[in-house]
Formats: sequence, C-alpha cells, structure tokens
Amino acid sequence: MSRKIIVLDTTLRDGEQVPGAKLNVHQKIEFAQQLKRLNADIIEAGFPASSAGDFQSVQEIARTVGDTISITALARAVKNDIDAVYESIRLAQNPFIHIVLGTSNIHVEKKFNRSKDAVMQMGVDAVKYAKTLLPHVQYSTEDASRSDFEYLWQTIEAVVKAGATIINVPDTVGYAVPEEFGELIRKINERLKNVNPDVILSVHCHNDLGLATANTLSAIKNGADKVECTINGLGERAGNTSLEEVVMGLKVRENYYGCHTGIHAKELLRTSRLLTHLTGLDVQVNKAITGENAFAHSSGIHQDGLLKDKRVYEIMSPEEVGAESMELILTARSGRHAFKNAVEKMGFAVEDAEDFEQLFAKFLTLADAKKEVYDHDVFYLVTQHRTIDTSDSRLYELESFQVVTGDLCPTATVRLKKGGVTFTDSAVGDGPIDALYSAIKALAGLEVQLKDYKINSLSRGKEAIGRVNIRIEYQGKTYSGRAMDTDIIKASAMAFLNGINAALLDTSHEAVVTAES
Ligand code: KIV
Ligand code: ZN
Repeated sequence: MSRKIIVLDTTLRDGEQVPGAKLNVHQKIEFAQQLKRLNADIIEAGFPASSAGDFQSVQEIARTVGDTISITALARAVKNDIDAVYESIRLAQNPFIHIVLGTSNIHVEKKFNRSKDAVMQMGVDAVKYAKTLLPHVQYSTEDASRSDFEYLWQTIEAVVKAGATIINVPDTVGYAVPEEFGELIRKINERLKNVNPDVILSVHCHNDLGLATANTLSAIKNGADKVECTINGLGERAGNTSLEEVVMGLKVRENYYGCHTGIHAKELLRTSRLLTHLTGLDVQVNKAITGENAFAHSSGIHQDGLLKDKRVYEIMSPEEVGAESMELILTARSGRHAFKNAVEKMGFAVEDAEDFEQLFAKFLTLADAKKEVYDHDVFYLVTQHRTIDTSDSRLYELESFQVVTGDLCPTATVRLKKGGVTFTDSAVGDGPIDALYSAIKALAGLEVQLKDYKINSLSRGKEAIGRVNIRIEYQGKTYSGRAMDTDIIKASAMAFLNGINAALLDTSHEAVVTAES
C-alpha cells in the first residue's frame, strides 16, 4: 500500500528569509490561502519571536486558514520564543510548536559555547515546556547532517522521551549527499521505532549542492514520513527543497517510492506563479516543473516523437501541474462574468460585490491599455488590488506625475498624497528615473539611497506589464519595493514609494513587515 507523506510548506518561514522576499501580512494571507487550495498538510507560517510584524502575520494566518490546515511556527529552545509561537498559532484547529536547536559540534561549541549535555538539556527543557502548552511539538536537530551520530541520536531519544511528537532532521547547510542522508534516516528510523513508533520522522533539506530534492527523496525511501519544502525551492542561499519537485517525483515514480502526498498537483503552477508575483523573484526558465520551459520541446526529433505519441518524450503532462487552466486571454469586452470566472479560476475568492466592482473597473482600465489580458495580468490585478492599504495615513500614495526626458535636462514633477494631504514638487536628474526619484525624495524629506533598480516584462502581449523591483537604504537598513504597471515610469515611481513606505512602517515601530505591492 502506498505510504502517505506529510508535506509541510515553509515558504513563509524559511523561504521568506531570502533578502528582498519579505511579504506583508496581506500577501502572506493570500499565499497561505493558495497553500490551502494546494492542500499542503502543514504551513510553517513564520518565526513570531523575530518581530511584531512576523507575530501578527502568523496569528492572522492561523486565524484565517488554520481551520482545516495544520499551522506551526518556529521557536528557538527558549521560553520567550515558545510563548510567542503558542500565542500566535493557538487559534488554529491543529497547531504545533516547532523548536530548533543545533546538534553538530560546530553549533554546540561556537553558537552556544556550552557542553553537549547542557545543550541537550536545553532542548529537553524546551520540549517539556512546550508540551505544557500544546500536545504536539516538533523538534529540529539543526545541522543534523554534520552532527556526530551518537550525540544526534542521544538528543533525539531525550527529546522524544520529553514528549516531542515529530523529529525533524535538517541538512541545514546543504552538505548531505543522497546515499549518506538516506542511510542516516534509515538508522534514526530504525531506532526511533523502538523508542516510540508514533513519533513522525521528518526531513528538511537545503540546496547548496543542488541535492535538496534528491536528499529528500532518499530520506523518504529510507523511512521519512514528513518532508519540509518551499514553493520554487525559495530559501536562503541556494534555497530549500522544492515542494513541486518532491511531489511530482513521488507522483511520477510512485511505483519506485511506494509513496504519495495529498498535494493537489493541478495547483502547483498557480502556487508557483503567485509566489513569483508576490516576491518578485523569478523562477529560472529551465526549473523542473514550474519553469517557463519545463514542458517546452524545441528539438525537431522530440517534436516529431511527441506528435506521434506524447509519451515518447513526456513523463508527465503540463496539465497535471495545472498548465492548461493557466492560459486566460480576456479583453475589455469579456464582461463581468468572464472576468469573475477568471479570478475564481485562479483561486481567488470573490465574495464582496463592492470589492469586485472596484476590481472590475481596474480590469477595464488594464484591458483598454493592454488589449489582451493574460493570466499573469489577472494575478497582478488581484494581488495589487488586495495588498495596497491606502487608508494608512503614514503611507504615501502616488497621485500623479509627469516626466520629460531627453539629453538636455530630464525633469520630473510628482504629486503625492499622505493622510489626505497632497504635495507637489519637481526635480531634475541624470535621466528620467533619477529625476523622478529625486522629486519623490524631496517630497518625502527622507535621506534614502537607491541601491538597486531592476525592470522586466511580466506578461506577454504587445502591451506587456513592466515590473520594477528596487532596493533602498534608509538609516542603515535595506528595504525593497516593487510595483507593476503597463507604464514603466509609473511602475518605477510606485516601486520607489513602496520602498519608502516600507521604511516608514518599519521606523514607526508598527511594522507589518514591508509594504511591497
Ligand atoms: O535549515 C534548518 O535547519 C532549519 C530548521 C529551523 C529546521 O530551517
Ligand atoms: Zn532551513
């Protein structure tokens, strides 16, 4: 009988640690709702002790999607962190606390500067404390793949006896290789079954050597029942195990692994695209499963074979991961019904009639500008519409702008609105964007420095949407902002303002992470 593998998605915790990938609370909820449609078993929603904004996001996710999906969040092995996790997830139906503590010599000696026994005791005490709050506790032996096996095992045995119900074995620095990691999991599994067969054995891999998926699959083959992954493999450095690769690996090779997941594979592409839109981080074109070219065949021999029978060169169909329903082409004449259908087909809820009317008005404006509106554009419209909080009086809004460019004296005039008041100013610059940003900086009165400016085309069609990502430095900290529009100058202005708004939110100490739109 095929074994069910539990899938934990940690895009909103480990994935979000990527510089520039920070999402605001609305974006996190939007993504969590998509993870629910994807049917992930568990969402790791954040690291609540890290900031007030993270705490609030975890709490909102637990409240909004925690009715049917299990929610967890990360804590170090200290009371304050554990309390923060408990307080933020307790509204979910099936919450559990995730505690992490290193087991490798380098972690014990360099990070904690304590004896191995003392570190193990910290872990045991943390589990015992967490168990007074919730019945389920996951314990992660950080840097397990570089740990001395006997100490790793002693730690696992001790925390299981203290009440841990899930043991997670991380390859924190992406050092493991598949045969060796599989063997590690086999050995732990064998011993664990004798200590407490009900404890779930889990793995968490990083991709520094490009082996995260291979290591995760090898662990499954050797007894792991739960895997931790991120969409698009998002994560620090080379990233985490890519959820879509593990899910499709098990699906396509179920005969080999004898395992399956509960993931709705048809939602994979949509989830990947949503993440790309929200974070502004593109997937490489040849990325397995979710890359633009993952199902494209260009060689003549392959095309010929495919025409005869798809199975000649196709091990899975694009439809299986949701490709067929991605292609939406709407026009200004499509009407409310078709647009509503398109929005719902992408997985967004349309409940509030007034909100839908506002969205539809934006669709008509976009359709007039672009003529053909694709799935990317619908994503853009909905996510943009739902993530801008224009009611916050601390934030700037772009009211209008004018840019005159040329090789004599590029000039920009900008009108901004904040708390119901409008401000106008003009500036000259080396080029149109420089002039635009100088005018915005003068209006905001902030000493911000532009560190990075990127622009690319988001969708297809003659009037493609331009997406601008910027990074600014303000008071020694880096903030990112992004925006999309068919007018790239407008997108540039909005991206810069979003960066400034993120800085303002942060420095006013009521941060909801960043204000990227
Ligand atoms: O990589 C790691 O070790 C982690 C743990 C918190 C599971 O992310
Ligand atoms: Zn990790």
